[in-house]
Amino acid sequence: MNVLIIGSGGREHALSWKIAASPLVNRVFVAPGNAGTATESDDIENVEINELDFAALIKFAKQNKAGLTVVGSETPLCAGIVDAFNSENLRIFGPDKAAAQLEGSKSFCKDILHRGDVPTASYNVFNDYNDAIQYLQNRDVPLVVKADGLAAGKGVIVCRNRSEAIDAVYRIQKRREFGDAGKKIVIEERLDGEEVSVLAITDGKTILTLQPAQDHKAAHDGDAGPNTGGMGAYSPAPIVDDKMLQWIEERILVPTVHTMNSNNTPFKGVLYAGLMITKQGPKVLEYNVRFGDPECQPLLMRLRTDIVEIFEAVIDGKLNKISLPEWDKRSAVCVVMASKGYPGEYSKGDEIRGLNDAANLPDTKVFHAGTTLKKNESKPLPETAEKQTEKQIVTNGGRVLGVTALGKTISDAKLAAYTAVKKIRWDGAWCRKDISDKANKYENLENKNETKEDEDKV
Ligand code: AMP
Ligand code: GLY
Repeated sequence: MNVLIIGSGGREHALSWKIAASPLVNRVFVAPGNAGTATESDDIENVEINELDFAALIKFAKQNKAGLTVVGSETPLCAGIVDAFNSENLRIFGPDKAAAQLEGSKSFCKDILHRGDVPTASYNVFNDYNDAIQYLQNRDVPLVVKADGLAAGKGVIVCRNRSEAIDAVYRIQKRREFGDAGKKIVIEERLDGEEVSVLAITDGKTILTLQPAQDHKAAHDGDAGPNTGGMGAYSPAPIVDDKMLQWIEERILVPTVHTMNSNNTPFKGVLYAGLMITKQGPKVLEYNVRFGDPECQPLLMRLRTDIVEIFEAVIDGKLNKISLPEWDKRSAVCVVMASKGYPGEYSKGDEIRGLNDAANLPDTKVFHAGTTLKKNESKPLPETAEKQTEKQIVTNGGRVLGVTALGKTISDAKLAAYTAVKKIRWDGAWCRKDISDKANKYENLENKNETKEDEDKV
């Protein structure tokens, strides 16, 4: 079977790598892909089609006999790519437009959570600027103001007090900083705790919960600085133990899938719960309707099961027929290397060096995100073919690479990932140095418990 993957980030490189490894798959096409997918293997090929050009994607899928299409980001899902492919009888993995509202509209999501009695922050929805300001008059508490629609992860403003909340409402609803996404707003209680991502795959009847992962959204160490698309991730996330994961499944994922069914918007695809682990337990901050980027990279490094079998079972509504996914017991850490200036204005076109050295390290995989192959210029030929390939790869985005490694413990995986990071360089490259450190407190606890058990044995 041939598979078409839509997108160009680190998540899509990881998906293409994992999908190409499936015995069910002949060729993988990535539209539009990046330099990582272009150079991964002879079985993977980039096609220059934009993720929102549904007509061209459908034509390509038909001409190239794509028996499965997998969508990376929320933008085409919320724009109805699944409906468009289905109407042409093409097999595609992901939620349809109606179900994708779970990410595309925060008020829709809150309504589903409320109706399913799923733990989340208390909230109000406002269509009118004056009503929102009026509501804030009596509230001088920490609040979060959110643009209802898609805003590339930027339409959420966490506020300490009333004046910040009033300013946030003004920016979103009056000044329309996030365009039409801010026509409607959600104002909700601010939750405190640690964030974690629990992703599940569902066909609307059966839920297959993946291992927990933790993202690092802030730009700088210690969670300081502006928000980014995610500066690194690791899995498993020991903040969620088996008992808590079961609770999340029963109290959060199951009622969400049920409520989506009773709302006549059945959900098929990746259900990504962004959770806050509060003192009262896990609460939903948001749902995403696709794999997280960069959470996808460590998750797929650890997943042993053939992901294509899972995607096929979801499309056929037969997820109950396949066995539980198998995981590499080791941990995986992904460190994002970014361009100078990111998440603000950043430079592009810088030559990346050391990729081959990093690739030669054991249990390490460098997933590309914002990279491209430099257009051929008439230059003297470099000494080796290997160097030639490397010389042609240049930066083309803010988040450039997701350097991912496996290790026996999270600390081992962290060390391996940063060892690979050290081999790679370009002008202005930077990364956070503390990816996965939040797990230390749990890992130390585990080590202590192990030592205690050993002592007990003596
Ligand atoms: P969202 O897109 O809704 O997940 O929001 C993006 C980020 O804003 C989350 O990852 C949190 O860091 C933060 N956030 C959203 N809602 C809340 C909330 N109710 N309380 C505290 N932080 C929040
Ligand atoms: N890692 C956050 C996201 O994919 O939205």
